[in-house]
Amino acid sequence: MDVQSIRGDFPTIRNSKSIYMDSACQSLKPDCVIESVMRYYNEFPACGGRSVHSMATSVSIGVDESREKLAEFFNYDDPNCFAFTKNCTEGMNIIAHGFGLRKGDAVLTTDVEHNSNHVQWIQMAEDVGIRRRYCRTSEEGVFDIEEFKRSISKDVKLVSLGHVSNVTGCSVPLKEVVEIAHDHGIPVLADGAQAAPHMRVDLKDLDVDFYCASLHKMLAPSGVGMMFGKMDLLKKLKPMMGGGGIVGLTTYDSIKVSPPPEKFEAGLSNYSGIIGVKFALEYLQKVGMDEIGKHETMLQTKIQKATEDIRGLSIVGPDDPALRGGVFSFNIDGLNSHDIAMMLDNMGGVMIRSGMHCAHPFFVSRGIDGCARASVYLYNDESDVDRFTQLLVKIAETFA
Ligand code: ALA
Repeated sequence: MDVQSIRGDFPTIRNSKSIYMDSACQSLKPDCVIESVMRYYNEFPACGGRSVHSMATSVSIGVDESREKLAEFFNYDDPNCFAFTKNCTEGMNIIAHGFGLRKGDAVLTTDVEHNSNHVQWIQMAEDVGIRRRYCRTSEEGVFDIEEFKRSISKDVKLVSLGHVSNVTGCSVPLKEVVEIAHDHGIPVLADGAQAAPHMRVDLKDLDVDFYCASLHKMLAPSGVGMMFGKMDLLKKLKPMMGGGGIVGLTTYDSIKVSPPPEKFEAGLSNYSGIIGVKFALEYLQKVGMDEIGKHETMLQTKIQKATEDIRGLSIVGPDDPALRGGVFSFNIDGLNSHDIAMMLDNMGGVMIRSGMHCAHPFFVSRGIDGCARASVYLYNDESDVDRFTQLLVKIAETFA
């Protein structure tokens, strides 16, 4: 993997001396993606799936090509099993609200979920009377398959797990989880927001029933996500929104809902964003997801070595860099995580995220008030890591 050549494809890296280490929030965009967005606005800024004129046809073709690319990227035969959403959270909500859970039904998650796989279940507990079950992880947030087996009770009607945690970087063995859940007749929904950008996700092999991801964490334009479901389940899933595009014929008192994926894509969409998806995924395919994963582990290992002597630094998550995906979450005694983030940016132009990362229950249950998080991606190199760790040493020596 030629990181220097990759860096040349990203205008924000070419044109700036700053270092971006917040890719777990949103990735940078390569030229090919930005050009595809510009092409849409310059050449055919119309609506897809409705009008029959030539601009609209170009949009529809672009949307179809991106959907086909999603199916190829995630190794699933039927592109119609993929609906475009505005982010992973939207997909997680469509499934939660459309799955048909009733009073007394339980949803099983872990105790380290992002709010994208948490808030809607609390809302549904209040509104519908569903129950929530938690599979406990270790203090560091490591998933335990035996604990998962023990957590399955008779009332569990859906297992819903983050594939990789946005705080600790720990992953769940999804294939094994799916096998166990299916043995109990329970379908599985996975929040892949932090997994899909960093590892090969083979939906056919995983046999998972639903899978959502944020494509803007995978080089695609901002505000595009995807929701995958097996066709028989998508057919039964109720759409969360009504409106144009999701129906065939409507009368004054009836509607005929379109088949998946249209029934989940109400109203005009983010066409420039969706069209950019094809170019983003092609870029990732060209580099190779396994290569990206290896590169991130190499950078994580380097960060770990360079920071191990910082007094008062503690990692949030497992010590093994290979278990942390692309994220390095940490605290330094005596320093607030937002202060660390601001100092890194002000002193050396290094941008990271700080706070509770929309995973409040994890932090509250561990008695931690947040953490700083540096996240790397395919375009970060060893010089980025050097600047980040050198600054961290200086900050700790001066202010902690
Ligand atoms: N889920 C995104 C993050 O962890 C926003 O930064």
